[in-house]
Amino acid sequence: MRPSVYPRSLVFHSCTINPPLALAPMVGLSHSALRLLILELGGIGLFFSEMLSVGRLPTENEKISPFLCRTPEENPFFYQIFVCPGQDLLPAIARLHTLNAQGIDLNLGCPAPALRKVGAGSFMTPELVRTTVAAIRSATSLPISAKIRLGKTLDEKSLVSFCKMLEDEGIDLLTVHGRLHGEKFCRKARWDWIGKVKKVLNIPVLANGGIFTVEDARQCLAISGADGLMLGRGAAIRPWIFADIAHSLYGLAKPERRSFSEIYFRFIALLEERFTPERRLGRLKQFSHYYAENFAFGHHLSSGVQNAKTLEEAGAIAAAFFEKAEG
Ligand SMILES: Cc1cc2nc3c(=O)[nH]c(=O)nc-3n(C[C@H](O)[C@H](O)[C@H](O)COP(=O)(O)O)c2cc1C
Repeated sequence: MRPSVYPRSLVFHSCTINPPLALAPMVGLSHSALRLLILELGGIGLFFSEMLSVGRLPTENEKISPFLCRTPEENPFFYQIFVCPGQDLLPAIARLHTLNAQGIDLNLGCPAPALRKVGAGSFMTPELVRTTVAAIRSATSLPISAKIRLGKTLDEKSLVSFCKMLEDEGIDLLTVHGRLHGEKFCRKARWDWIGKVKKVLNIPVLANGGIFTVEDARQCLAISGADGLMLGRGAAIRPWIFADIAHSLYGLAKPERRSFSEIYFRFIALLEERFTPERRLGRLKQFSHYYAENFAFGHHLSSGVQNAKTLEEAGAIAAAFFEKAEG
């Protein structure tokens, strides 16, 4: 093993995250098949689920639910929840205990219209956030994390006081996505603003936003001073990115390199293993949209797969694409 540039383990509450690299919660992407693929490729320290509705969680059947299905290897695992005003949290928290959660993550940053409609995610008022965190804290002894954006406008004082309030109410780990509420992903993430939060908190902070390469990871850690990183789209484009970062920054063994097509078809095999037939193609289309970014002519892969009517057809289109691309 080579020496680690940064502390290799992040220890807080009852968790050890090693290395401190997390897969972001992403609807339609952060599911069991992608998680298993990332595990096989190495370098991952922590998983977050796709966001889950507190209202639906208690009745969702984990044997068939694509959102809850998970193998024991997908560990440590934080389930992300979103909460609407007036909702009873207790049945959902009780359910997460039965699902062997290692932690519970509260979605405070999602600006999606679906969450606007119900007053959840980034649309929760600060007072609702405070009472919600307090309610989760008194209902569980599991670690609680929260994921935020930087706020509605760049305002250091209110950002810092909001984050301190989260810490005071019992949040154990905070992920900061370095963008304002309304900002699109094409805008560069403000890693320096994550640093403003990190500086004043005693709990660990994960930095998120715009990390696609080892060099991005290095710079983000240097600029933000964060305790670890959370990657979203970068993990769908290059599921081996965690292994590369873990090797370069945390001194883990050099990962074995597999070809693009091998990794893509392994993902299809995992979709087949983990999901019923009607759940597979949509997830492959979503993944392919990102994976295609590895290639100069990747739009041929993504648009071909988007138009496929069956998983088999998508597989044949992808095989023809990779034959040309990889020679
Ligand atoms: C398809 C997609 C789905 C997402 N779903 C969620 C979600 O369920 N909960 C959440 O907190 N953030 C969600 N996000 C935001 C990501 O977790 C992350 O904050 C964002 O993509 C920025 O990180 P990145 O630049 O590494 O992708 C989603 C992002 C994408 C692209």
